[in-house]
Amino acid sequence: KERKLILAIESSCDETSVAIIEDGSLILSNVVASQVKSHQRFGGVVPEVASRHHVEEITLCIEDALTTADVKPSELSGVGVTYGPGLVGALLIGISAAKAFAWAHDLPLIPVNHMAGHIYAAQFVEPLQFPLMALLVSGGHTELVYMKETGSFEIVGETRDDAAGEAYDKVGRVLGLSYPSGKEIDNLAHQGQDTYQFPRAMIKEDNYDFSFSGLKSSFINTVHNAQQRDEELVIQDLAASFQESVIDVLVAKTIRACQEYPIKQLVMAGGVAANQGLRDRLRAEVTKKLPGVTFIVPPLRLCGDNAAMVGAAAFVEAEKGHFADYQLNADPSLTF
Ligand code: KG4
Ligand code: ZN
Repeated sequence: KERKLILAIESSCDETSVAIIEDGSLILSNVVASQVKSHQRFGGVVPEVASRHHVEEITLCIEDALTTADVKPSELSGVGVTYGPGLVGALLIGISAAKAFAWAHDLPLIPVNHMAGHIYAAQFVEPLQFPLMALLVSGGHTELVYMKETGSFEIVGETRDDAAGEAYDKVGRVLGLSYPSGKEIDNLAHQGQDTYQFPRAMIKEDNYDFSFSGLKSSFINTVHNAQQRDEELVIQDLAASFQESVIDVLVAKTIRACQEYPIKQLVMAGGVAANQGLRDRLRAEVTKKLPGVTFIVPPLRLCGDNAAMVGAAAFVEAEKGHFADYQLNADPSLTF
């Protein structure tokens, strides 16, 4: 059987990435050019700076991905590209590059939803089986998505304010950590204990929604009060207490949603899925409370933004005959 090779492009935020994926599940190359250092001094992603970096990097990443995979454009069967959600200027660079490449090599253009991409990253661990539940936790999103079958997405719960990753980055800023601070808080948390009292918002409510802005405010108040009273703060314990609160809520709601819906697999994906505390706790709870459900979480390098996941999702779209024409535009607030 002939192998189907897809060139995939991701440029929705601060990583320029190009990958070559075989049959939706084998990574031949996955080049990721991170711009994180350029945004650090601003404490967050600056859209204009992101666009400029994407312009500089995109063609180099395409060449690099082809060379690393040892694949010629003539061997490809399609070009997948993230068209939303994300920063409009950043998305447009990837889309323009994808159109140009597709046109030059007479290849079909496959539009990909970035959040679907995060879910399909699990496909590199093992084949997805439906129905499944996905916990998507990133810098911009926190949502529970029910997939009855491939290509069908139902949001059963989502954050009403901040995303989980956003909460990590905001409290990290208060602690003087550099952006993005999720990983560092995760490390600090492992050296501390849950000694500060932070809220578990909406944990008992009869829905699958989340809220992290109250936790963020509570954290900031704790830090400011201690500073005013000249009390000493134990940063490891602050990190541990914050992280426990985030994990408690994410895990409790996810497990409940999985008990409500008939599922075979639980997938966790997105940048915050790299969190070691969250991975460990969710895995343990699934084993304990969800017999028969397989828990899948992509390896760390596939949790953050990357084009391999876009290639996996593009393969599914192409199989369904979902292609785009050259009118394809960025959709910054694309949802399922
Ligand atoms: O999916 P992603 O790379 O980009 C978006 O689409 O948002 O997610 C980035 C987010 C950031 O907020 C970052 O702080 C968070 O993922 N993150 C983590 C960890 N590693 C990255 N949050 C908690 N623990 C981690 N280990
Ligand atoms: Zn993402």
